[in-house]
Amino acid sequence: MKKLQIDVLTIFPEMINGYTSQSILGRAQKAGLLNISAHDLREYTEDKHGRVDDKPFGGGPGMILQIEPIYKALKSLNVLRYANTSPDAKEVHSERGSTRIILTSAKGKIFTQKDAVRLSEYDHLVFICGRYEGVDERVAKNFVDEEFAIGKYVLTGGELPALVMSDSIARLRPGVLGKEESLDEESWSKGNNREYPQYSRPEDFMGLKVPEVLLSGDHKKIAQWRDKKSK
Ligand SMILES: C[S@@+](CC[C@H](N)C(=O)[O-])C[C@H]1O[C@@H](n2cnc3c(N)ncnc32)[C@H](O)[C@@H]1O
Repeated sequence: MKKLQIDVLTIFPEMINGYTSQSILGRAQKAGLLNISAHDLREYTEDKHGRVDDKPFGGGPGMILQIEPIYKALKSLNVLRYANTSPDAKEVHSERGSTRIILTSAKGKIFTQKDAVRLSEYDHLVFICGRYEGVDERVAKNFVDEEFAIGKYVLTGGELPALVMSDSIARLRPGVLGKEESLDEESWSKGNNREYPQYSRPEDFMGLKVPEVLLSGDHKKIAQWRDKKSK
């Protein structure tokens, strides 16, 4: 399997780097299994103050993340697909291979484990992090493959959703977690199942005891108990 490349378009690249450089994602990057790059959208604006937002047409509160810096960032990654969105259409790439462009959006479809499994088959993912009151709708309509919300609530930006989705996808790639067999029994791995309860030492913590069956050494009984407790 090829290395997974994740590109994140954001106005806060440090938020992304802070998380992805640590722990399992940090180790997987060092091991060459994946690479996560955060791209500062302000580097793709012509505005001398680095502005990437403007007022919504038709009025209304707040500002909208503009289409142009996103277009330019996607173009620099060679992942633009729709030739008719550009005056210099011939330059726009249509052969994107195994790439998926994902817009973080409070009004998108809810991201699930099934989506994580499906997206883990791609070798290149691009996340667009919205800010302010959202993103110019032409981005969703023309440049994006999928629009995801990570829950039915509104956050201040798309950085946490991009990290949440990247994390859940990356850990499914071969070698990222030490023991791949552990993925099969995890919550949501088979539809709506939840993992069975787990315990560790001590057996008795101030009177709070571990279920007897787990200490019995009887693997058949343990498997039956776990099966019953997985819902
Ligand atoms: C303040 S929100 C905009 C919310 C928008 N005005 C609405 O009502 O749908 C700014 C950005 O945060 C991100 N965001 C907020 N909540 C999210 C969620 N639940 N899932 C994914 N992205 C979210 C999106 O990128 C969004 O463009």
